[in-house]
Amino acid sequence: MKNVSIDTLTDAVLGYCGKDTDPRLMQLLDGLLNHMHAFAKETKLTHAEWLTAVEFLGRIGDISTPTRNEYVLLSDVTGLSSLVDMIGSQHAGTSSSVLGPFHILGAPDLPVGGDLKQDNDGATVIVKGRVRTPDGTPIKGAVIESWQTADSGLYSNVDETQDDYNLRCSIKVGDDGAYSFSSIRPAPYMVPDDGPVGDLLHATGRDAWRPSHFHFIVVAQGYKSLVTEVFPSDDPYLDKDAVFGVREDLIMNYVERTSLDDVPDGLAIDRNVTMPFYTVDFDFVLVPDEA
Ligand code: BEZ
Ligand code: FE
Repeated sequence: MKNVSIDTLTDAVLGYCGKDTDPRLMQLLDGLLNHMHAFAKETKLTHAEWLTAVEFLGRIGDISTPTRNEYVLLSDVTGLSSLVDMIGSQHAGTSSSVLGPFHILGAPDLPVGGDLKQDNDGATVIVKGRVRTPDGTPIKGAVIESWQTADSGLYSNVDETQDDYNLRCSIKVGDDGAYSFSSIRPAPYMVPDDGPVGDLLHATGRDAWRPSHFHFIVVAQGYKSLVTEVFPSDDPYLDKDAVFGVREDLIMNYVERTSLDDVPDGLAIDRNVTMPFYTVDFDFVLVPDEA
């Protein structure tokens, strides 16, 4: 197209796309280009600013490795990951929340009631509940994967002092949908802030802290898979999570206990409980695939 102008450029770019372009791709490109071009016009973006942004994205690519995805971190701290989560989570089930970069495949099986704490330092916490539908029907055969930080605030895959799968497990629920396991209270931690995304956080006076949380993935045949996190109600960083993962239904009371009588039946933890310990009751509510 000749003689493009500020007003005709967006349509000119879109007009170059062939008529056989996948309709959804076309819809996404149309929205993206319109918003990007409008942003440049509204802010009167300068060439120097545009170049800074291009260099910033280049640094994000340079620092990314198979175990560190700075693009995902950018998406997380700018709220895009959580926005996508919430758009896909408008149903009667448990809210989803960010996956984060510390999930690894192959978590070892743990029986219902199993002890994940083992010889980890930290306050004992017992997590229990059910996997169920919104109307309370248990979902048998559901599998819950859990991962969390050690007392140091580090995940096993970024800490040489921990076993590869420390504080990671996969639990198949019983016929009643029930699950339980014992572990330690996860610690709050900071998202990696030694790269370009950290520079952005620092330049804007933002915190890199995340409130402590358990990560969970729950899968069951015929139901939408759930990726989520559960936070303690007394965490000091609940209101300033760097990646906006906190939702009302994901905040739990960690009930403080001081008597072994309060260890629920069927838990393997007995010999390993530290006092005080905490119990957390949390049901995972899944919705059918087609909902
Ligand atoms: C996490 O929860 O593990 C996490 C999520 C987003 C960015 C960094 C860490
Ligand atoms: Fe995390």
